[in-house]
Amino acid sequence: MSPEVVAHRGASTRRPEHTLAAYELALAQGADGLECDVRLTKDEHLVCVHDRTIDRTSSGTGLVGAMTLEELRRHDFGSWHGGEPAEVLTLDALLALAADHGKRVFVETKHPVRHGGRVERRLAERLGRHKLDVVMMSFSVFAVHRFKALKPEVPTLLLYDRLWPKVKPHFADFAGPGVHLLRRHPGRGRDAYVWTVDDPADVALCRERGVRFLATNNPEETRELLADN
Ligand code: G3P
Ligand code: CA
Repeated sequence: MSPEVVAHRGASTRRPEHTLAAYELALAQGADGLECDVRLTKDEHLVCVHDRTIDRTSSGTGLVGAMTLEELRRHDFGSWHGGEPAEVLTLDALLALAADHGKRVFVETKHPVRHGGRVERRLAERLGRHKLDVVMMSFSVFAVHRFKALKPEVPTLLLYDRLWPKVKPHFADFAGPGVHLLRRHPGRGRDAYVWTVDDPADVALCRERGVRFLATNNPEETRELLADN
């Protein structure tokens, strides 16, 4: 079976990452799922921002965790990438969009250690209010373990960057190796979530290895490649 195409930060080659426009384009391009990173604002809202600060992806500067949602909304998250002006995207807004289209969201919690579990607790609370198709993921075993204890019914995924152990912990439903690890470990990859796959040779490798989810910044091109092979 062909891997499911997951739009990494939306269609983030063509639109500014983590904006509504990036996710709407990904959906229009036929992405099967959407990936996002989440951070906690000072007033405990979950927002879709990758870095600790908003310096790279907005018109403003400063730590996400030091600003309220209202303060973050004063900055433009679209123009830096040549896009239309855009507000910071909340996780709630992204979940609503995905639910409207019947798509799954892969939510990666960032800064799990610094906030001692508040990110995962907040995520569990938000999910409690909706019937949503979500996979929670993190590079931190602590974060994944903590979230699984809070919401056992929501699938979890442990991301791997440097090492990819053969056996994953029981509280992780899926393994998430980087594509560099897939290349390094012949014969592995079945049922895995692999990131971030933008090279056509890697798309072919994912298919060959039976990868289940493939996260890419280019959902349209990736779908075409998978359809051609
Ligand atoms: O999908 C997993 C991948 O996004 C992890 O790396 O740095 O892009 O969040 P990063
Ligand atoms: Ca991510």
